[in-house]
Amino acid sequence: MSSLDVALIRQDFPILDQRQDGKKLVFLDSAASSQRPRQVLSAMDELYEHSYANVHRGVYQLAERATNGYEGARKKVADFIGAGSTNEVVFTKNATEAINLVAHSWGRPNLGPGDAIVLSMLEHHANIVPWQMLAVELGFEIRWIPVTDDGQLDLADLNTLLDGAKLLAVTSMSNVTGSITPVDLLVAAANNAGAKVLIDACQSVPHMATDVTAMGADFVAFSGHKMLGPSGIGVLWGREELLDSMPPFLGGGGMIINVTTEGFTADGLPGKFEAGTPPIAEAVGLGAAIDYLQTIGMDEIRRHEVELTAYALRTLDEELGSAVRVFGPSEPAARGGVLSFELADVHAHDVSQILDSEAVCIRPGHHCAKPLMKHFGVAATARASVYIYNDTDDIDALVAALKKARDFFAI
Ligand code: ALA
Repeated sequence: MSSLDVALIRQDFPILDQRQDGKKLVFLDSAASSQRPRQVLSAMDELYEHSYANVHRGVYQLAERATNGYEGARKKVADFIGAGSTNEVVFTKNATEAINLVAHSWGRPNLGPGDAIVLSMLEHHANIVPWQMLAVELGFEIRWIPVTDDGQLDLADLNTLLDGAKLLAVTSMSNVTGSITPVDLLVAAANNAGAKVLIDACQSVPHMATDVTAMGADFVAFSGHKMLGPSGIGVLWGREELLDSMPPFLGGGGMIINVTTEGFTADGLPGKFEAGTPPIAEAVGLGAAIDYLQTIGMDEIRRHEVELTAYALRTLDEELGSAVRVFGPSEPAARGGVLSFELADVHAHDVSQILDSEAVCIRPGHHCAKPLMKHFGVAATARASVYIYNDTDDIDALVAALKKARDFFAI
């Protein structure tokens, strides 16, 4: 049924070629962090074995090769997300750091008492806590877009919420419900209100084609480790003139043109925001991950995940019925491949432990989205999430393991 040759793809993922307690490992936790294909591992090994040195510093050939690898990765990211220029692509440690960068370098000079920003109840903590920390310091108001019972943004009062607001910071896809938010509509409404827009695209960039220029936002943040790349690297895309106008975030080497005892002159973009030795091999790994994703095709990946999500929703309903409550939209096209659920009144950690005994890896917990958990009236959910290396066999294994859990707890 799939538009992807999953069996072939799986051959590229050595970690999936293992058994746990004699059972095939079923990895359904890519929303937390994906696995990496050999191509990414080899690109990083190759750099370390043949072309590693610090970047933007040495003038010897090895250092030039390392710099070319690092800057080449920036170009791949820029092309992958439709950025107008590599100056708009800042490498960070992760998406959380990217959002903190915006909070500090844009938020601090632009927000103060009497101001307001708008977040949504779908956000995970990375797009909540940096703003709360800043609000405590600067005294601005945080307003919240509510969510509907099926985990989608409730936009009935959007214009009122945005009235007078300086920023809308919102996810493009919930990491809990998988809900895809209407970014075009949100950006248009924010633009009308004169608010800047930050999109937390951690869950969407790995799974569907992204064009930041067409999106029309001011900032877009995402991480490498959820898109087949290594951990330790994230990306902040920002509109060039806006990034240019912002002060640096972290200070140190690599982000200056000159330093005297009196002060410093900051570098231009994107170096201004990349203090210290950057994640060099991680950038090269991310570039290789992008090559890999593009070889498969982002539209094919999206199609595969919608099909798999539809299969999972149908099978869970047929096999477990009312024992399972799935959070989020019932329409597969309205969501990404993230399925949060409750199995009757069994705690998500117990569900996850039983599933682990069947070699099925899912994430239990609050998914770093405690306000959303509170909205749903639960402390935690169990969450299965799919990617290019998952197929209907994995969903069948999930459902079979959930039936065991149901029987074990005699639901
Ligand atoms: N934000 C990551 C998740 O959803 C860690 O699991």
